[in-house]
Amino acid sequence: MKKLCSFFILFLLLNTTNIMAQNKAKILVLIHSDNGGTYELAKEIAKGIESENNANSYIKLVKASQNPALKDLPVATVDELTSYDGIAFGSPVYCGNISTGMSEFLSKTVQLWTNHGLEGVPATVFMSAGSGAGKELALQAFWNSLAVHGMVLVSNGIRGTEELNKSIPQGNTVLGVTSMASLKDVERPTKGERRLAELQGQHFAKVAFALKDTHSKKGIPVVENQQNFNDILKQKNIVLPQVPKPAGNYKPFVRSGNLVFINQVALKDGKILNPGKLGVEVNEQQVKDATKVTMLNVLSVLKEAVGGDLGKVKQCVQLTGIFNTKDDYTEHADLMNIASDLTVEVFGDKGKHARATFGASSIPVNSSVEIQAVFEVE
Ligand SMILES: Cc1cc2nc3c(=O)[nH]c(=O)nc-3n(C[C@H](O)[C@H](O)[C@H](O)COP(=O)(O)O)c2cc1C
Repeated sequence: MKKLCSFFILFLLLNTTNIMAQNKAKILVLIHSDNGGTYELAKEIAKGIESENNANSYIKLVKASQNPALKDLPVATVDELTSYDGIAFGSPVYCGNISTGMSEFLSKTVQLWTNHGLEGVPATVFMSAGSGAGKELALQAFWNSLAVHGMVLVSNGIRGTEELNKSIPQGNTVLGVTSMASLKDVERPTKGERRLAELQGQHFAKVAFALKDTHSKKGIPVVENQQNFNDILKQKNIVLPQVPKPAGNYKPFVRSGNLVFINQVALKDGKILNPGKLGVEVNEQQVKDATKVTMLNVLSVLKEAVGGDLGKVKQCVQLTGIFNTKDDYTEHADLMNIASDLTVEVFGDKGKHARATFGASSIPVNSSVEIQAVFEVE
């Protein structure tokens, strides 16, 4: 009987905890950061959000970063914005304005805007500055973009300023907290700036919690075939390799406008798979295997180019397959079908592309195949 009672109490406790977690406001802390200053403030904002147990915080980047302090942070998608009860936006100050990375992200929210997707959702802003020149202008510029969305703009007022050490310059503003990273008289963000960020997060969580479920979460209409690509890759047993390192003075990909350009050879685990000329050192099956490895390399670079989200790929525009063959060989199309089929398998209709294939008397690093790819992305 005693055992049964304990079990029942445990069950009730677990259920209550679960219900409480479900009732909490879900707040995105969405940042762009080059050197990590904005991220430092974001962590304090998140701490404040979590402090009264009425909200959970999720720090995400607007785009992938190579900075070791930021590279493991998840990248947000535009589509997910409507799933939050509030968004705290953070960015570096760029010329008295929001940063290019943040501006690029916001420019992708047009469809959300016309769909009234963020109307009534609370927003707050914070920024990392250098000297602090134009910091208030920059915060206000942030508000301009968010006001267009009809978001509820949550200011900081003079909250917490009485606690500040006023003998040094501090990044307090009535719109939101800032830090002045290049004023190195003390460590930045200063203790006071961190505290203001925490208070801003705490206050924001109260507002987000109070307004939770008062705004209709209208997302971007779900595009047919829009799926989680990680699941698709898993289902199809497709494992993307590490992005191969460039062997010279070039980059794994270049993005120009909405097009991404990629070139790869059959590099696998640091070695060329099945090297040599078809019909001399390697047979057709070996070249097909090398073609698959090459296309997987292309996809892995593509994933990096879209910040980890293959859902941002709009179309595979063109694939060009170059094979190391003898002069009289004519079955290039058969070899290249391996790459084409894999692309269609992953992207469906968006994977269908224009294609060229040809033979070459030799290919760099003695690969039996090289693939050039062009993708259109969001
Ligand atoms: C293009 C550019 C413009 C900038 N303009 C300003 C500015 O107007 N005022 C300012 O105080 N700092 C300016 N800065 C400095 C950044 O705001 C500062 O380094 C900030 O702390 C970077 O944030 P992060 O560490 O999150 O990358 C600028 C930096 C860049 C790269």
